[in-house]
Amino acid sequence: MAKSQSANSKFITIASGKGGVGKTNFAVNFSYLLANEFGKKILLIDADIGMANVHLFLQLSSKKSIKDLFSGARIEDVIQKSFNIDVLSGFSGIDDFFELDEVSIQAIINQLDAISKHYDYVIIDTGAGIDEKVAAFLRASHQSIVVTTPEPTAMMDAYALIKSIYNIYGYENFKMVVNMAKNQDEGELTFNKLKVSVKKFLNIDIDLLGVLPYTNTLRSAVKNKELVAHKYPRDAYTQNLRKICKEELAIQEPAQENFWKKLFDFMGSRQ
Ligand SMILES: Nc1ncnc2c1ncn2[C@@H]1O[C@H](COP(=O)(O)OP(=O)(O)OP(=O)(O)O)[C@@H](O)[C@H]1O
Ligand SMILES: [Mg+2]
Repeated sequence: MAKSQSANSKFITIASGKGGVGKTNFAVNFSYLLANEFGKKILLIDADIGMANVHLFLQLSSKKSIKDLFSGARIEDVIQKSFNIDVLSGFSGIDDFFELDEVSIQAIINQLDAISKHYDYVIIDTGAGIDEKVAAFLRASHQSIVVTTPEPTAMMDAYALIKSIYNIYGYENFKMVVNMAKNQDEGELTFNKLKVSVKKFLNIDIDLLGVLPYTNTLRSAVKNKELVAHKYPRDAYTQNLRKICKEELAIQEPAQENFWKKLFDFMGSRQ
C-alpha cells in the first residue's frame, strides 16, 4: 500500500459556506472508506480554524498540532494515526507561521511537501464561511468539494462560496455533495438548481459527486463518538458514501504540485 515517493497527491478541500451541513462527518467518513475499503493512503487535515473537531470523531488527543513544527518538531511526530487515516491538526495557530523567518518558512514547506508525497489524497476539512484562509485552501487545492443540504439557506451559501471564489480568484474546480437529502431525487433536484444558477450567472460548470441521505444512524453514531462508516457499513449514508468514493476514484486528473507553497503564499499575500 506504500505509495511511490515520486508521485504527487491529490489535494481536496471540503467547504460549505453555511455551517453544520455535515462537512466534518463527510471528511472523516470519506477518508475512512478511501483508506479502509479502497486501499488509499490518506492524510486528513483539520483546517477548521475556529472549531477544529476532526480529532473528536477519530478519538485522538488534540495535543499535537502543526504549530509544533514552528518550534522545531519533526512532521512525523506531529501526525496522528487513527483508523488507517493520518491526521494533521492545529491550523488555528497558523498566523504564527508568518512571524517566522524565510528560512524557517521554507523548511516547514519542504517538510509538508515531502510528507504529502506519501499520500494518494490529502483531504482538508475547513470551517464554515468564506474567510481568506478558507479561500486560500480552496485556491491551492486541485479540487474542492462543496457540501450543501437541500435547505435554501445552505444552497444560497454554497452558491455564494462558489461565486466569490470564482469571481475573485478565477478558481472553478468544484464538485458538489448534497447531504441530509430525504432521497436521491431531492438531492439531485438540489444539485440541479445550483448547477443552473452557477451556469447562468457565472457561466461555469459544476458536477455532482453524490447525494448522502439524512440518517438517524449517523446522528446516534456521532452521539456515541463512533464513526458511521466503520460501525454501520450497511447504513444508507455509508452505502452512498461508497458510491462517492468510486465516483472520486474514477476522476482522472493530473496530480498536483506545490500545494503548500501556494497555500502559504495565498495566506500571507506574498504572491
Ligand atoms: N447525513 C446526515 N444525517 C443526519 N445527520 C447528519 C448528517 N450529516 C451530518 N449530520 C449532523 O449534522 C451535524 C453537523 O455535522 P458536521 O459537524 O459534520 O457539520 P459541519 O459542516 O462540519 O459543521 P461546521 O460548519 O460547524 O464545521 C452533526 O450533529 C451531525 O450529526
Ligand atoms: Mg466541521
